[in-house]
Amino acid sequence: MDYQWYPGHMTKARRMMQENIGLVDLVIELTDARIPLSSRNPDIDALSGSKARILIMTKADLADPVRTEAFKKYFEEKGWMVVAVDARTRKANDRIRAYVEKACAAKRERDKRRGIVGRPLRAMVVGIPNVGKSTFINSFAGKASAKTGNKPGVTRGKQWIRLNKDLELLDTPGILWPRFEDRQVGVNLALTGAIRQELLEEQELSLELLGFLQREYPDLLLAKYKPENDGWDLPMDSAELLTKIAEARKLIRTGGEPDYQRAAKMVLDDFRNGKTGRITLETPPAGGNDSE
Ligand code: G4P
Repeated sequence: MDYQWYPGHMTKARRMMQENIGLVDLVIELTDARIPLSSRNPDIDALSGSKARILIMTKADLADPVRTEAFKKYFEEKGWMVVAVDARTRKANDRIRAYVEKACAAKRERDKRRGIVGRPLRAMVVGIPNVGKSTFINSFAGKASAKTGNKPGVTRGKQWIRLNKDLELLDTPGILWPRFEDRQVGVNLALTGAIRQELLEEQELSLELLGFLQREYPDLLLAKYKPENDGWDLPMDSAELLTKIAEARKLIRTGGEPDYQRAAKMVLDDFRNGKTGRITLETPPAGGNDSE
């Protein structure tokens, strides 16, 4: 399997990030709660340097709550502030604001010592494509926000969304490129829809998913697809399982063959839309550190 990420995009994204990170006090990094490791690019650690950081786990509404809690602990043990959210809602906004203050307390103190009072903190949202950056910015900024125009000392064209008198958000998020060195990372990104479908054949991808679900969420799999009066003996070969699913859902081509393509698409869509259940594809490394 091959994954392509164009070097030109990567260089441009990196340049923009470097330029913008210089302007902010705080980096709000977004990761997908269903693939918290695969959807992070560890380069962010080097890029954000000593800036304050908050990690937001988006799409927590689709993720396995037990694993989300385990990942929260795992990331917190690294010393980060972590919030798991459904980025489409504003429920966690107060908690995030409180964390922003906490994360930037040292910066505020430094400003005070230098006689700088009342300068709003500046934050930037970063993450891989589709992780929920725009959605989060909209929810976090909300209707009350006003865009502030160019200001002296700010690179031309940068727009800041004023959240309140204490906080401004850069309206353009920083795009991180996913890492494809590890095959499983590519599979995870394709399964959640973070990278383009064509990069991985749908059928091949659905077999990966079925293999994973048989191992880690067999009950959800059976509850979703097994007809009541049928006996499915898991684990079985994933191609055989796809056949059974196609037959159970009457996805049959003219001529009587199972329609693997439609069955594969259905299995993938059900997973992506949370219809199979709340599923997380990864578990925190035991005592390990993903960014090393
Ligand atoms: P980006 O700026 O990082 O590229 O991501 P964006 O906000 O555009 O979000 C990508 C998709 O993910 C959007 O779906 C958005 O609604 C969805 N999304 C973002 N955060 C959450 C979340 O916390 N929970 C859930 N369930 N969905 C979330 P979309 O516009 O329908 O796009 P698509 O699904 O058709 O790709």
